Amino acid sequence: MTHPLSTEAIAAHVTDALARLEGAADLAALDEISARLTGRRSELGEWHRALGQMGDDERREFGRQLHEASSTLRAAVAGRRANLEAAARVVRLEGDRLSLDELVDLPVAAPLERGHRHLVTRTRDALEDVFVAMGFRVVEGPEIETDWYNFEALNIPPAHPARGMHDTLYVDLGMAESIVLRTHTSPVQIRLMEAAVTERALPLHVVIPGRVYRRDTPDASHLVEFHQIEGLVVDRDITFADLAGTIRAFTAAYFGEDIDTRLRPSYFPFTEPSAEFDITCTICRGAGCRTCSQTGWMELGGCGVIDPAVFAAVGIDPTQWSGFAFGFGIDRCAFMRHQIADLRALIDNDVRFLRQF
Ligand code: DAH
Repeated sequence: MTHPLSTEAIAAHVTDALARLEGAADLAALDEISARLTGRRSELGEWHRALGQMGDDERREFGRQLHEASSTLRAAVAGRRANLEAAARVVRLEGDRLSLDELVDLPVAAPLERGHRHLVTRTRDALEDVFVAMGFRVVEGPEIETDWYNFEALNIPPAHPARGMHDTLYVDLGMAESIVLRTHTSPVQIRLMEAAVTERALPLHVVIPGRVYRRDTPDASHLVEFHQIEGLVVDRDITFADLAGTIRAFTAAYFGEDIDTRLRPSYFPFTEPSAEFDITCTICRGAGCRTCSQTGWMELGGCGVIDPAVFAAVGIDPTQWSGFAFGFGIDRCAFMRHQIADLRALIDNDVRFLRQF
């Protein structure tokens, strides 16, 4: 039943409507109440239609009042809806809350599998630890080198037969000088000695680990890209005995006390005298087997007392200073210690192989 249109009737309608909207218990109830209060067939709707029979002034005045009432009610509906929706969300969250009993009954997820460092990195770290404990500093150098650092300063001039041992990869940077991927870590010796001369930072006790490259066809014991660790000592009154003792100490620390070393006379252009050093075969422990060609020994690296020609190239006075150097393969150490059959496994990235270490 519609009340006659009057300012008081509109005000009463609004007051009553606001109370009812506030009383809506849930969203469904709110929808129903709001349809009844503001829809076409609501009292407001009727009054709107009644405007048509009014004179101009009256219609304008009541039109304004009705419009205001509708806006008030629409805002009230929206406000109440927001409140009810928020309340519904809280109810849903409460419903998701788990009791302690339920938590205990949840299935346990398998622990996430964690990766670890590559075998070569671990070997490098272990060797660095051994040398740091012996008083060496760890330094790195560039992998792309000039011919001067990789060869000439190391007393290997162009056309020297020693270059034949290095299958070199050249890099074309459009420079006059030839640029190579370093074939060994020895060029960093030169860089460090040069820097030590300028900075008056002798003596030097350093190891230099890093990647090196050779133009080889990969097979079970050769890779195009492998790793070496270089040792360099420049100090006063250094002799070959210091070198032999250092090699003995680091091999025992890394491979174990039961692994022996031996030095064999050899030739390197940057050392004089030079030697190659072997360790007891890690497979047969010296008895003789196929891997060590029945000798009981495995070759590990090269070493020697620094050649005066190298000191001359970097400007170190050989009457004041002497030194030794050595270099060997990191991959080869891993290969020997873990008895890996094929070096290529180190770069295949097959996790079934890698996760064993
Ligand atoms: N750079 C040599 C190579 O890769 C290994 C080597 C031999 C390093 C004698 C040295 C050394 O420091 O004294 O074949």
